[in-house]
Amino acid sequence: MEKKFKRIGVLTSGGDSPGMNAAVRSVARTAMHFGMECVGIRRGWQGLINSDFVVLTPEMMRHILGTGGTILYTARSEEFMTEKGREKAVNTCKMLGLDGIVAIGGDGTFRGALELSRLGVPVMGIPATIDNDIGCSNYTIGFDTACNTAIDCIDKLRDTMQSHERCSVVEVMGRHAGFLALYVGLAVGAVSVLIPEHELNFEEDVVKPIQNSRLAGATHFMVVVAEGAGSAIEIGKKIHESLGLDPRVTVLGHIQRGGAPTGRDRETATRMGYYAVKAFAEGRSGSVICTQEGSIVEIPIEEALEMKKQLPMVRYEILEAISGAR
Ligand code: F6P
Repeated sequence: MEKKFKRIGVLTSGGDSPGMNAAVRSVARTAMHFGMECVGIRRGWQGLINSDFVVLTPEMMRHILGTGGTILYTARSEEFMTEKGREKAVNTCKMLGLDGIVAIGGDGTFRGALELSRLGVPVMGIPATIDNDIGCSNYTIGFDTACNTAIDCIDKLRDTMQSHERCSVVEVMGRHAGFLALYVGLAVGAVSVLIPEHELNFEEDVVKPIQNSRLAGATHFMVVVAEGAGSAIEIGKKIHESLGLDPRVTVLGHIQRGGAPTGRDRETATRMGYYAVKAFAEGRSGSVICTQEGSIVEIPIEEALEMKKQLPMVRYEILEAISGAR
């Protein structure tokens, strides 16, 4: 007989990303729509171990759609990696009468979700990370906001770099992926973007583009470095040695994870939250809600974790073509 979901839990785990609150709100409201209760599990998987929860009311879901961070807090749990920890988490589900869990986060979150589902707890995943590095989904909640935040910061940097005719080296987040760096680099007109997906040839990728740009009349230069491609400080030093410039280095850091989510992130989070709960309502579980070619699809967690996503390198070619590199 089909499982009936009467009460579900929702949690956010791993690095936070703008739009997580919109996803929590959508999960809670959709649950109410389908006649389910919704319990917020605080501090990610660790919260499930510690029975750290809050019953989500309609009142609590007001005014969070457009807010950054996560009202449920987030954490990376070592204990959940252990059998004992997961056993405690299953017991919390039993104690609270949770028929399923919606887990919002990245790869690590989905690995946890897979383990929990193997222990018999129905789980649905929602991809949310500013890195956009989840293989199964074209898009992850928070990426657009993080891009726009980085663009805003770099536009401001450009004002002062332009005034002083300087070179700016900006390090952006992304963990092991170059999505954020490449998208931001294109949007700010960077002369060079260093990403982990492209093996660095310093002469070709940094020195020549700056020289060509100078020959074309530029007097200030913006270089964007993905954290996974190396240290902006080191790149700044090498630029100084090779070209005699005196670059200013900025590491944008966690500022990229904050701020009000953009329309794209609110809208995507709202749709994903809805489909995650609708799956429960229709008796399905064990999948990640993904975007593929603009549509929402459910991909089994195990399969989702195996999937790899390629950075569209055509964007790198576009950057090379118009940045003065060739
Ligand atoms: O995964 C999101 C992310 O912001 C990465 O871009 C970055 O490498 C990492 O998290 C930073 O993690 P923490 O918040 O633990 O410093």
